Amino acid sequence: MAQKKITIPEIKARKNDPNAITMLTAYDYPWALLVDQAGIDMILVGDSLGMVVLGYPDTVSVTMDEMIHHIKVVTRAVNHSLVIGDMPFGSYNVSIENAVENANRIMKEGRADAVKLEGGAVMAPVVEAVIKAGIPVQGHIGLTPQTASALGGFKVQGKSADAARALIEDAKALEAAGCFSLVLEAIPAPIAKLITEMVSIPTIGIGAGVDCDGQVLVTHDMVGLFDKFVPKFVKQYAHIGKQIADAVGQYRDDVRNRRFPEDKHGFSMKAEEFEALKASLE
Ligand code: KIV
Repeated sequence: MAQKKITIPEIKARKNDPNAITMLTAYDYPWALLVDQAGIDMILVGDSLGMVVLGYPDTVSVTMDEMIHHIKVVTRAVNHSLVIGDMPFGSYNVSIENAVENANRIMKEGRADAVKLEGGAVMAPVVEAVIKAGIPVQGHIGLTPQTASALGGFKVQGKSADAARALIEDAKALEAAGCFSLVLEAIPAPIAKLITEMVSIPTIGIGAGVDCDGQVLVTHDMVGLFDKFVPKFVKQYAHIGKQIADAVGQYRDDVRNRRFPEDKHGFSMKAEEFEALKASLE
């Protein structure tokens, strides 16, 4: 069933909505169709692409061209969800001009509805410039995977009073810079609740408790399609990876033992045509 496309003002108006905002990642056409048709509010073409689809060890390796390729594929599938294109590492930390150019590519070539970039108060001037260029921006603070090495690894952020205060300042700076929403990743639930109460834009949590205005997960984590590393905050709703591995194993055994294909999977021809062919070959 065709559903109306979700807009940025509609997402902003969902601040404090008792029905939390839903967001998931997608990176290709079939998954984007499934997520869109399920009525998910926002689809993030995240740079998690690098780890769950492209086989990189981290998100740092992902390039602009790879992001554009996958954002294009997703936007071709989507009718309903708001599509956010993630800005990869190195695409917004060189200069403000370069950040605006890359954000333009995500909108113009990728046909996304908005971009997301990682970082707190220090990124506010970049966010402002991208928004001034007419491009909606979603912020992302807390555990920011692109700078995990500077943070000392994939660790929960904001656990001390000082660190939590810094996160609150980051959230306020991104709100003031004009972000339409804010991802809070891997921070204690009470701090996420406090930030949610202190900013006027919707917060989208991932490992940040139930009091955020919305929730996001990496789809491949959520369906058990990527289990090299499953963070504590992931709930696995399915184990698709195991189902696929079982199916592939059954196919292998059927082919080896000539149980596949069966007659019903093939095509026949009239017996007289086949006889005529054989006679002509004698
Ligand atoms: O790249 C990504 O998938 C993300 C989410 C974890 C928010 O940034």
